[in-house]
Amino acid sequence: MLPTGEEAFCDAMEQAVPGCRPAVAALLALGKKATQAQAVVMGQHPGPEEGKLTVHIRDQVRAISAKTKDSILQSLERNGIAAPSRCRSGECGDCRTRLLSGEVFAPKAMEHRRQADHTYGDVHACCTFPLTDLEIDVPPAESC
Ligand code: FES
Repeated sequence: MLPTGEEAFCDAMEQAVPGCRPAVAALLALGKKATQAQAVVMGQHPGPEEGKLTVHIRDQVRAISAKTKDSILQSLERNGIAAPSRCRSGECGDCRTRLLSGEVFAPKAMEHRRQADHTYGDVHACCTFPLTDLEIDVPPAESC
């Protein structure tokens, strides 16, 4: 459900260009996500500042806290979980982590995932930020 102002905008656009309502609504949603993502990077996330991060690593499952302004990798390290990493800028892929559930954001400038990463739901933990509670599967640091 769109907020009232966005509903009115979609209605106006639909009157001007019949049939465009779904596309306009989708563009508004994308804009909202971009704004949310920018807020994360700027440390001004509109949602909760902290959420739950459920981490599967080896045969263990741990629940830790994750701040929305911290990357997933930073949250892992802050909670004493050794996860693989190298460049810490999104380029090497060593921090590849499988996202099992939840929504994340990766700044476009740091988004270097391959098509296979998108296909399998992998993120680069060093430059990916939580937008909701997350559940992830992290490879042990020794496996790199
Ligand atoms: S540590 Fe290199 S992509 Fe994350």
